[in-house]
Amino acid sequence: MGFYEQRILPRALHAACGSSGLAPLRRRVCAGLAGEVVEIGFGSGHNAPFYPAAVARVAAIEPSDLSWRLAAKNLAAARVPIVRSGLDGQSLPLADDSVDAALSTWTLCTIPDVAAALREVRRVLRPGGTLHFLEHGLAPDEDVRRWQRRLDPIQQRLVGGCHLARPIVDLLTAAGFTVTDLDVFYEKGSPRFGGADSLGVAVSA
Ligand SMILES: C[S@@+](CC[C@H](N)C(=O)[O-])C[C@H]1O[C@@H](n2cnc3c(N)ncnc32)[C@H](O)[C@@H]1O
Repeated sequence: MGFYEQRILPRALHAACGSSGLAPLRRRVCAGLAGEVVEIGFGSGHNAPFYPAAVARVAAIEPSDLSWRLAAKNLAAARVPIVRSGLDGQSLPLADDSVDAALSTWTLCTIPDVAAALREVRRVLRPGGTLHFLEHGLAPDEDVRRWQRRLDPIQQRLVGGCHLARPIVDLLTAAGFTVTDLDVFYEKGSPRFGGADSLGVAVSA
């Protein structure tokens, strides 16, 4: 990782992901989380204030040391204990069937081998455990998809490997999850090519 990825991008993501306009979405995706939780792509902890009190503990998975340092204020605002427990969603240092729920927000776009990460999430989730997700990805409309295909290489270069057009629900289904709640929408205040969001819950069989 170079200077840009280590020193600049985490600060830019901290600012962009910390927008107050995203708070209602974060509140929605965190609703219903309970027990032992793993969050992949914890970033600078913008979901931390929204964890319900029913959460016993959060294992935060985040590769960027700077993002983790920038999380200090959000960690202080959390009602539940949060421990940085790993660096890579593709290889979780957690036991099989050891967590009740998982959370991923705007992260499945960036993990290089997203299928491996979803396999890992399923491995650590107990049977019937849930993955709460809020992800941007492949747009529902063809005219937006065309722009996503054009801009994807630039996005990947500028935003740390972020893919614009991953088919989130298809990826979840292919990994063996059953999507039980789903809302697909364009995020207010974002260009449509980068703000085609899927918010929901998927159950691990
Ligand atoms: C767009 S940010 C979202 C951060 C946070 N989830 C949020 O909602 O504010 C994507 C995050 O995924 C992290 N990430 C990148 N590769 C990863 C990997 N292999 N495993 C886990 N997280 C990763 C990045 O460091 C970054 O913090």
